[in-house]
Amino acid sequence: HPECRCNPCLCKMRLCFVLVVMAVVDQCSSSLNLYVDSDDVKKLLGVSSQLWYVQNGTVNKYALGYVVVVPPHVDLLTFHWQALGGMTMPYNMSVQVGNREALAPPVYNISDQSIVPTYPSSWTIRLICTGKLTTQVDVTITLKVPMSTSLVNTTTLNIRRKKICLRGKVGGIAEREGEVGGISVEILEARHSTTVVYITISCLGVFLLVVAFLAIFNHIKNNKARPNTGRRRGTGASEQRTVGRSTASGGNVPNNQV
Ligand SMILES: *[C@@H]1O[C@H](CO)[C@@H](O)[C@H](O)[C@H]1NC(C)=O
Ligand SMILES: *[C@@H]1O[C@H](CO)[C@@H](O)[C@H](O)[C@H]1NC(C)=O
Ligand SMILES: *[C@@H]1O[C@H](CO)[C@@H](O)[C@H](O)[C@H]1NC(C)=O
Ligand SMILES: *[C@@H]1O[C@H](CO)[C@@H](O)[C@H](O)[C@H]1NC(C)=O
Repeated sequence: HPECRCNPCLCKMRLCFVLVVMAVVDQCSSSLNLYVDSDDVKKLLGVSSQLWYVQNGTVNKYALGYVVVVPPHVDLLTFHWQALGGMTMPYNMSVQVGNREALAPPVYNISDQSIVPTYPSSWTIRLICTGKLTTQVDVTITLKVPMSTSLVNTTTLNIRRKKICLRGKVGGIAEREGEVGGISVEILEARHSTTVVYITISCLGVFLLVVAFLAIFNHIKNNKARPNTGRRRGTGASEQRTVGRSTASGGNVPNNQV
């Protein structure tokens, strides 16, 4: 029998080889967990339940198809993920924003291209409204992961959000450092309007001062004008008198001399 030719050692080696191959194949069917925690779902949807996008390598198409509305006071989204089966999984990430005027470029704390950790991990993405427009902004987070046995085929996960932005509200209000981070445009406008009021008042003050100065100047000028004319008349009279006297005296002198 051929089986008889297989010595115990070789049989063990064959078994070992088969086991190793099976393990490798198992490892290659890398899978993933990707979900939003119940606390964050409660903030967004008011329901305390985890929202699974990928569970144990199974894509939840229903969850991915659902556009979650992000209210104005929420700007931080947290996602939890883990590569299963003890094997790290490469990913590519990109974020599309529907209206760049209303929403600042989203900031997230993972790289665009890296590996999904094998331990439970989380990452965040921050959606900051510019405060320029009141509108709904479509945000699509695209993750590309090789989730099938063949590493060639990648699975594209599109996680969709609709962020509500309000005109005059920069970032989230009253959420964590929202008070510190985002200065309300309304306050800026209020500051601007007080400045305008100050400028108006000071302009009015300057105008009143100019008017008062002109009035005083005119009054002084008028008051000065009367004594001046009087003096001129007086001097004119005295000149005439002196001239008269001189002429008289002059007249007299020649007359006396003559
Ligand atoms: C994930 O799948 C593995 C086998 O494919 C199974 O043993 C495990 O219980 C599953 N876990 C969950 C949370 O569904
Ligand atoms: C990520 O993108 C790079 C090129 O941009 C590509 O080579 C790589 O295969 C992609 N990886 C995944 C998991 O899609
Ligand atoms: C991203 O930020 C969150 C909150 O600050 C933190 O819990 C998480 O560990 C960070 N993730 C990475 C990959 O840095
Ligand atoms: C990989 O993709 C090709 C075409 O895009 C498809 O024919 C093939 O069945 C896919 N393989 C797996 C394992 O999904």
